[in-house]
Amino acid sequence: MTAPALESTVQSLLASGKGILAADESFPTIEKRFKALNISSTEENRGAYREMLVTTPGLSEFISGVILFDETVRQRMSHGIPITIPEALAQQEIIPGIKVDKGTASLANFPGEKITQGLDGLRERLAGYRELGARFTKWRAVITIGEDAPTGACIKANANALALFAALSQEAGLVPIVEPEILMNGSHTIARCEEVTNAALESVFAALFEQHVALELMLLKTGMILSGAECPQQAELGEVTEATLRCFRRSVPAAVPGIVFLSGGQGDEVATQRLNAICRAGDVPWRLSFSFGRALQSPALKIWKGSPDNVEAAQAALHHRAQCNGLATQGKYSVEMENAKSTVAQ
Ligand code: 13P
Repeated sequence: MTAPALESTVQSLLASGKGILAADESFPTIEKRFKALNISSTEENRGAYREMLVTTPGLSEFISGVILFDETVRQRMSHGIPITIPEALAQQEIIPGIKVDKGTASLANFPGEKITQGLDGLRERLAGYRELGARFTKWRAVITIGEDAPTGACIKANANALALFAALSQEAGLVPIVEPEILMNGSHTIARCEEVTNAALESVFAALFEQHVALELMLLKTGMILSGAECPQQAELGEVTEATLRCFRRSVPAAVPGIVFLSGGQGDEVATQRLNAICRAGDVPWRLSFSFGRALQSPALKIWKGSPDNVEAAQAALHHRAQCNGLATQGKYSVEMENAKSTVAQ
């Protein structure tokens, strides 16, 4: 695999007006999302749900790539010709990606902090995923903000794991999405979020540099700079925009082609409004876009509820959120757009 192939994947993922759909919930996470709606997390239901998402008519107008989970990347479509989900995505010119970390575990000696697992055997797993059609990968590190957290040890251990993952992905011909997520949970201020995000990003880029990762052939995925979810003083849109761009300018090298946001538990519409404001304000060296999970899927999941009768309406809801966020990447999102019906061709 050569650099031009990776570069072409990067450029396609960052196509103007498009973003990435994260549909890579692990077994415990999808179970949690389903349980809230009384849907049982069986292999059949998970398959039907993911198939509903990826067969949304017109999805490729606003979605350039979909991050899949190990189970889904092997799944065959139950309707029509039994091609795999990655094949179905590729047919729509949507790039299939794969979450390759194996979730978090407690970090030894640092109670309450997490380290992401999955480096053992990763080289072999990556080769297998490439065979199955994946063209990019994702690894999520989780940083918690608390009274004594994050510690330098937690930030560094996760940064090193992200760098090893990124180097192995590029070696396998896959574009790595390097994701340090600073959790929104907590009562911290926006200033504290900015401080921690800066520290985490500095450590991540130092580790990537040391590991000889080609910054031009990766994407960064992280959160916006926000007040903690339980902070009584919630920062306003202008402050979020300013802090987010200032933080990135300080700690993300210009060689990185794109930064894609996670939604992290923000409300769907709020996430879109903030994305719009940040993208509008930008005079920045990277392309800014989204790689949302919940903020794209939530309305569709609530409508779908596990029933084939709801597929069309659920797909229209996903298309609408994808369209709103696609416009937001160009700073063209508006209340009128939010209130307009999806233009999905049914
Ligand atoms: P959310 O947008 O729901 O935070 O999910 C994005 C993601 O992929 C987290 O790893």
